[in-house]
Amino acid sequence: MNQGVRVRLAERMARIRPFYVMDLLARARALEAKGVDVVHMEIGEPDFPTAAPIVEAGRRALGEGRTRYTPSLGLSELRRAISDDYRQRFGLEVGPERVAVTPGASGALHLVLAILVDPGDEVLMADPTYPCNRHLVELLGGVPRLLPVGPDTGYQLSAEQIAAAWTPRTRVVMLASPSNPTGTILSPPAIGALHRVVQERAGALVVDEIYQGLVYEVPASTSLACSQDLFVINSFSKYFGMTGWRLGWAVAPLGYMEALDRLAQNLYLAAPTLSQWAALAAFTPEAGEILEGRRLRFQERRDFLLPALERLGFAFPVRPQGAFYLYGRCDALAPDSDRLAEALLERRAVAVTPGRDFGHHEPERYLRFAYTTDLGRLQEGVERIRRFLGSW
Ligand SMILES: Cc1ncc(COP(=O)(O)O)c(C=O)c1O
Repeated sequence: MNQGVRVRLAERMARIRPFYVMDLLARARALEAKGVDVVHMEIGEPDFPTAAPIVEAGRRALGEGRTRYTPSLGLSELRRAISDDYRQRFGLEVGPERVAVTPGASGALHLVLAILVDPGDEVLMADPTYPCNRHLVELLGGVPRLLPVGPDTGYQLSAEQIAAAWTPRTRVVMLASPSNPTGTILSPPAIGALHRVVQERAGALVVDEIYQGLVYEVPASTSLACSQDLFVINSFSKYFGMTGWRLGWAVAPLGYMEALDRLAQNLYLAAPTLSQWAALAAFTPEAGEILEGRRLRFQERRDFLLPALERLGFAFPVRPQGAFYLYGRCDALAPDSDRLAEALLERRAVAVTPGRDFGHHEPERYLRFAYTTDLGRLQEGVERIRRFLGSW
């Protein structure tokens, strides 16, 4: 295919790794093409279709010919709706002028990191973490510093750890609550303590709240309740079930909005217009009722899957309270999670993600299970894993 074409990539591309889970998904799909019935527990997106009121709003927008660019920071109606939502759900005043609507949380992460990180600047993040974060920092010439976290801190960074890791080149700390891959959350006091450490050192705190609505024992919270002097990343992908619409947002202190606007204009002009009109319906009571019902379905799945996997020998030292992931220790069952995931797919057609996608800290001891498939399929998956472990 590349005959006669010399591929000469920028040197930085050597540091951008693919998602292993994508590779796994491709292999699972190849098995399915051969007629194999695969149980998917690797996919990080809701299995529900986008809620009907949102789809209908998108259709209406298309019918009305809303197909032109919006302002770079988003439709004023949507920025206002997001601002209203912070007031209604959390009692917080987050003015629409501080909301930047972006192409997914991915767009928000890219924008925010790009206005903060200079070449050589260090960005602290937990290990394990969402894999894109370190690659985005690399892309900007920054230095991702992955700090190992474990059950003792709920797989989250602690204020002490950040203080100890800080150097004159440290510029940004990234958190995620609830976290991918661990599903654990940071309490508001913990975020407050982390924020204080970062502020005392004149750094910037970026909190990814993309799984905000998907929490099960505790009320949803936002780090903006601790301080307005931080950056929040959010999205319509997960709780709102709109992955393919590519829509998210960032909240930033007012003084940064001009820079975000300028960069958005240059990077992608604006987030998708139809998606923005559709997302307005995500805040209606009709959509809210559907989304809340789905949250309860996720909780039901977690409440089945967690003890079922524990009975098979997987360990969850910290109870995950959010997102739709369980990050289970499998070292009592197998020496290497890569080989275990490999064998589960090849021999029992169960797809799960090994720890190596998420960092360097003990990845071989962990598997990530996503409960983004219905209860019946999860039961089937657990049964297949049980039979597999019996013969392993
Ligand atoms: C923690 C986290 N942040 C950001 C994203 C990006 O999501 P999107 O660009 O679809 O909003 C994901 C997707 O899985 C995620 O898990």
